[in-house]
Amino acid sequence: MTATASTVVLGMQWGDEGKGKIVDLICPAFEIVARFQGGHNAGHTVKFGDQHFALHLLPSGILHSTMQCVLGNGMVIYPPALFEEIDSLVDVGVDPRDRLFVCDRAQVILPTHVLLDQAREAARGADRIGTTVRGIGPAYESKAARSGIRCGDFLSNGLRQRLEAHLTMAGAQLSALGVDKVPSLDELEALCRDWGKRLAPYLADTTVRLNRALQKGHGVLFEGAQGALLDIDHGTYPFVTSSNSTAGGAATGTGVPPTHITGILGVIKAYTTRVGAGPFVCELEDDDGEHLRRRGNEFGTTTGRPRRCGWFDAVLARYSALINGVDTLALTKLDVLDELDEIKLCTAYRYRGEELRDFPSDLELLGQCEPVYRTFAGWKTSTVGSLTTDDLPENAKIYLRALEEEVGAPIGLISTGPRREETILIASPVLDRLVGGRLEDILAQRGS
Ligand code: GDP
Ligand code: IMO
Ligand code: MG
Repeated sequence: MTATASTVVLGMQWGDEGKGKIVDLICPAFEIVARFQGGHNAGHTVKFGDQHFALHLLPSGILHSTMQCVLGNGMVIYPPALFEEIDSLVDVGVDPRDRLFVCDRAQVILPTHVLLDQAREAARGADRIGTTVRGIGPAYESKAARSGIRCGDFLSNGLRQRLEAHLTMAGAQLSALGVDKVPSLDELEALCRDWGKRLAPYLADTTVRLNRALQKGHGVLFEGAQGALLDIDHGTYPFVTSSNSTAGGAATGTGVPPTHITGILGVIKAYTTRVGAGPFVCELEDDDGEHLRRRGNEFGTTTGRPRRCGWFDAVLARYSALINGVDTLALTKLDVLDELDEIKLCTAYRYRGEELRDFPSDLELLGQCEPVYRTFAGWKTSTVGSLTTDDLPENAKIYLRALEEEVGAPIGLISTGPRREETILIASPVLDRLVGGRLEDILAQRGS
């Protein structure tokens, strides 16, 4: 007898941990996959066989033809980006149209939000956050200011009035930033009515839908975007995104009560990367950093920007495991370390002669921390495509054991290549619970 799985898959670092690949891999154990925060700032890459997909708004589970997909209330949605993504999938034979549900409570990204994001970043100059300039932050600001537009408003008689209230606030902010080409109320209304027509078939009360599905015993996978350290509350503020990318966000961002979420799978890279500005204690600006970037193909899926790279940071990972209540880790990109002579792992930070094991909240202090490293001998053997831990070289096993101990969470999956089939699943009661006892279904679709 197995219980219904209601599992959150989230990134434990600064994003791009390989969430897309892991979600796609474990999808066969679930009936529904739901995004709960963020928007098209996300870039999730999925590869299997000779196919390659980059997803921004749609959950990575969309590639499984029987999966129902939900864009939850906690998201910010830019309709043209959604339509483009749907069209590009239809073009390659993946039809999401009768199994995609967009929450009528989700917020809309309007052209004013994109203009504000661009103008704010330009005004910050050298202090810019390095956002994806997709309007994400300003859309969440409008939500909090109660002057946002929700997807359900497209079909409402009150749309014009709400847009007018929005424009009063956003227009004033834009003109203060020197932006004079602001869309008029008529233009915005026409655009929204147009978007509404195309969005209408997808709109649903996804809160009811998800809760009913769980009551019926259907498995739900909550797909996180970004990473824990980009969380608006728990991340390296202000160098963060504007939503809650940590586990709690899955409940507020879908309307599924926290008591109905049964497990958390934390996706974490075997080293650390970050896109955009902000402190990064383990950053490498030397040949090793360049090696990780090149070998790991660390260039943004959304913006193409080179990702900053560094050694695995266990201080950050421990904090992430703590605030997310991670049950098990999905460790990705182990193969990227294959050719290195030596591999380092940061176990603590040194600040003014003192060793810190807890991740500091003070950003200035964080900026002055130095990493305390443990050094491991490399394994200098290819791990690509390994299917069991027995296939891994002894030095890789030593590194992984140390990483587990330092983070304080067990590893349940090890990814050794971008493809679905390049993954080790380590059977355990915890992993079995996370996938509702359907490990066999995953193994069957993993391929080998
Ligand atoms: P996400 O945003 O967390 O879904 O991650 P991205 O898709 O933005 O970035 C992860 C990148 O690493 C993608 O290009 C994946 O195809 C790739 N990837 C995922 N897992 C592995 C792995 O184990 N090894 C290698 N070499 N690449 C991987
Ligand atoms: P996935 O889901 C990596 C970063 C941006 C910037 C900060 C704020 O692919 O892991 P925003 O546009 O959200 O206001 O930018 O957050 N960022 C990401 N970095 N992966 C992502 O998503 C990201 N989404 C946003 O680079 O530093
Ligand atoms: Mg990404």
